[in-house]
Amino acid sequence: MALRARSVIWRRAGRRAEVLGNADDVVRDTGWVFNNVTGEEASLPLFVAQGDEEVQRWFDLMGLTRSDDQQRTLLEIGSGIGRMTAAFTRRYGHVIATDIDPGFLERCRETVSRHGNVARLETAVVDGGRSLLVGDQQADLVFSYITLQHCTPEVALELVRESVRVVRPGGTLALNLRTWSRADLLLWPAGRVAHIIWRFAPRFAERSRLLTRLGWQANRLGPAEVYRHFSTLATGSARVYQPTKRRRTFEMPHGVPVHRLADLHPSHYFIVIDDVRAASTPR
Ligand SMILES: C[S@@+](CC[C@H](N)C(=O)[O-])C[C@H]1O[C@@H](n2cnc3c(N)ncnc32)[C@H](O)[C@@H]1O
Repeated sequence: MALRARSVIWRRAGRRAEVLGNADDVVRDTGWVFNNVTGEEASLPLFVAQGDEEVQRWFDLMGLTRSDDQQRTLLEIGSGIGRMTAAFTRRYGHVIATDIDPGFLERCRETVSRHGNVARLETAVVDGGRSLLVGDQQADLVFSYITLQHCTPEVALELVRESVRVVRPGGTLALNLRTWSRADLLLWPAGRVAHIIWRFAPRFAERSRLLTRLGWQANRLGPAEVYRHFSTLATGSARVYQPTKRRRTFEMPHGVPVHRLADLHPSHYFIVIDDVRAASTPR
């Protein structure tokens, strides 16, 4: 499926975010885009509270919190409507929220105005889904959650390259991705069918949550593959967090340590790389 067609799935969800009156309506109508909760029981405050809780949990468990965060810049790839971004603006002096869809970024600004510190927020579109419209070496920490799995493998790896470009020398990348699990025996072929329907009948497909959820699954990249790609671009000290529910430990090159995280989706993982230095950056 062509990149353009694949990004159409997100752009259509984003357009709904643009058309709907406010971020509360977006959560009620398209909450499924983010956490599969919709209807009257969904609200922006609850959505943000869930984001706050996840930021606290993942950042504590992975040791990402620092005492000088108020002086640091976090760049988020795939902010959506700001579920986690609001928490980031309370923790970091400067936050750059990026997303493929400008409609989501507009709602992200609204979410942060209501639940975070909007004076600390900058937003930037991800051009063509692969180029961050942000200068080099702008961020101390590049973070991405439940986003890179929705890109083709080439685009996800391109966004790893972009992360290396925008992180300051000595900074950190913390990227969440998805790899193969048993459920993919069914999910993966179903996703291929959904992509075909999205390609030829997008108006029909966009009315179906199931087709959208299946259609946006675009890659399964293992941590070793991501780390090997990173190693062609930069040096850094890496560690991987895999779900406790996954029995087999990921095999990583160069003795990269693998830790276990409870509550992580069984097919997700984080790769965290500290002290990142692009190949061309002097020490
Ligand atoms: C499931 S949402 C996650 C949003 C947010 N990280 C969260 O946890 O609530 C995935 C987001 O990734 C964005 N996205 C998809 N492909 C992208 C790409 N190539 N570049 C940047 N953002 C992308 C979508 O527009 C959407 O906002």
